[in-house]
Parts: sequence; C-alpha cells; structure tokens
Amino acid sequence: MTTAHDSESTASEAQPSPVISRHRLTTRLTHWGWAGALFFLFLSGLQIFNAHPVLYVGQQSGFAYDNSVLSISPVRERGGEVRGLTTVLGLSFDTTGVLGVSGPEKERAYRAFPAWLTVPSYQDLATGRVVHFFFAWILATVYAVWLVGSAINGHLRRDILPGLADIRALPAAFVAHLRFRFEHDGRYNSLQKLSYAIVLLVFFPLMIMTGLTMSPSMDAGWPWLVQLFGGRQTARTIHFVVMLLLLGFFAVHIAMVFAAGPINEMRSMITGRYSIRRSVDRGGRT
Ligand code: HEM
Repeated sequence: MTTAHDSESTASEAQPSPVISRHRLTTRLTHWGWAGALFFLFLSGLQIFNAHPVLYVGQQSGFAYDNSVLSISPVRERGGEVRGLTTVLGLSFDTTGVLGVSGPEKERAYRAFPAWLTVPSYQDLATGRVVHFFFAWILATVYAVWLVGSAINGHLRRDILPGLADIRALPAAFVAHLRFRFEHDGRYNSLQKLSYAIVLLVFFPLMIMTGLTMSPSMDAGWPWLVQLFGGRQTARTIHFVVMLLLLGFFAVHIAMVFAAGPINEMRSMITGRYSIRRSVDRGGRT
C-alpha cells in the first residue's frame, strides 16, 4: 500500500535535488562559538561546584541554616564503607561510582562530580575559575553578536520568535515529532522556533545574568542584580538549574539532528548548504 508520505518522497526523489543556502554566516559562526564555549563552561563549572557541592535557596548558606536544595557528598556508613550520597529537595539517592564517590575501587576519589566530568580533571578551583570566566566572556560576546546580527538580518523576527500561527501549530508539530515525521521545508518548524527562542532568549540571558550576580564586584556595581535573583545563593542555584536544562535541550537537539538526517543538517550548519530533497520541497533561509 502506498501512503501519501510514500508518494511524496517518491515524487521528490524523481525530481532533481535542489540545494539551498540555508544558514547565514553569522548563524553558523555563532552556533559553533556557543557550542564550544558551553562545552568548556560545563566542565569548568562542575569543577567550581565541587569546591562547595551544596546549593541553597535564599540569602544564607552555612551549617546554621537549613535551606539547601541539593548536595552531593561522600558519607561514611556504619561498616566503614564510604558511599556517594546525592540529596535533592530532601530525597537522598546512592550515587556511588559517579557522584560523591568515583574512580576505580582501589583509588576512590571523594568528590561531587568525577574527574572525567571536570576541567581540570584534578581538584583545582583556581584553574577551573580561570577557564570558566574565559569561556563566559566568549559566550557573552558570541551571544551579543548573534543578537545584534539576527536583529539586523531579520533572522530573529522571521525564524526564532514564534508567532500566533506557530503557537497554533505546536500540538500538530509535537505529534509529528513523536512519530519521527519531519516536515522540513528549509525553515524552522514551530517546535524548533519555540525551543530555540527559549534557549536563546531565556536560558542564555539567565545564565549570563545569574553568573554576573555571583561576582562580588558586580554585586557592588549593580546591587539590583542580587535583589532580582533573591540573593547570590539563589542565583547560584538558578545558574545550576539552567545548566541542567541546557543539557536536556542538548540531548534532544542532537537526537533531532540525527533523526532529521545528520549529514544534511550538519552540512547546513557548517557550509550553509542544505539539500531540500531529503526532507521536503520548499526553500528558506535562516
Ligand atoms: C550546547 C550546545 C548547543 C546549543 C546550545 C545549540 C543550540 C542551537 C540553536 C539555538 C540553534 C538555532 C540557531 C539559530 O537559528 O540562530 C541550533 C541549530 C542547529 N544545531 Fe545546535 N546547539 C548546540 C550544539 C550542537 C551540536 C553539538 C550540533 C551537532 C551535532 C548541533 C547541530 C545543529 C544544527 C544542524 C542546527 C540547525 C538545525 C536546522 O537547521 O534545522 N548543535 N542549535
């Protein structure tokens, strides 16, 4: 039996395969700029977290207060064995081997995140901070270039900000994604627009602003930042939560790139060239 989808792809296979110019240079350069910066920010951020592996909500931190929302620590049990314990909102999980206690049996490391997840791999807060702040400036600069460039060339308005029609199309797009049926016409679909808008216009600014809130000199210059986020400890927790959300986005993003055709998708983000034959048949430029 031939379905409408089958006959559509048979028809498009019979026709010549048009290659369009999809992503502008600014879109491509900034994309790889923030992808690289986020990689090092993630690993060096976990190194910094390891220096005090507890997150709080509120103005205070310390033994006298009970406002922690997450902690990762090695805990010695009655028998003398040391286990890794991760506590989230009062619920504790044994995470021995990855969080709290890691490394081979004979050379156990008692640290929140394991060596393979931090830069540098050994415990060194000072180097972690140098790496983190270096890539934070890169991310902020790349983001500013993307924002200004995309506002000027129309990418922001046309391809990122979802309109009313995109909001209406969301349920159908969601179902189509669940069925791995991608209506790629060279433009972003409504789910892409929404997720990219959330990443670029909510997560990135939130990440940069909560990062600035943790800087003592910024607190002195812009005290309203500390008030905005309810204190430096809360800003640190929001910073960590946004990191987790970005990680979740990243996992789905990569899965979608592979599901939609990795070679064509990657080529479009590297060279700009995109073959619309392997997806669907209209062109567009982001
Ligand atoms: C944490 C790292 C990453 C973030 C935050 C991120 C975020 C984004 C965003 C916001 C866009 C839309 C950009 C725009 O239109 O201005 C995008 C597009 C894209 N990204 Fe990523 N990305 C990341 C890593 C990656 C990686 C590692 C790959 C390759 C495997 C990748 C492949 C792509 C492709 C192919 C597109 C174009 C999608 C399309 O044309 O339909 N991304 N990404």
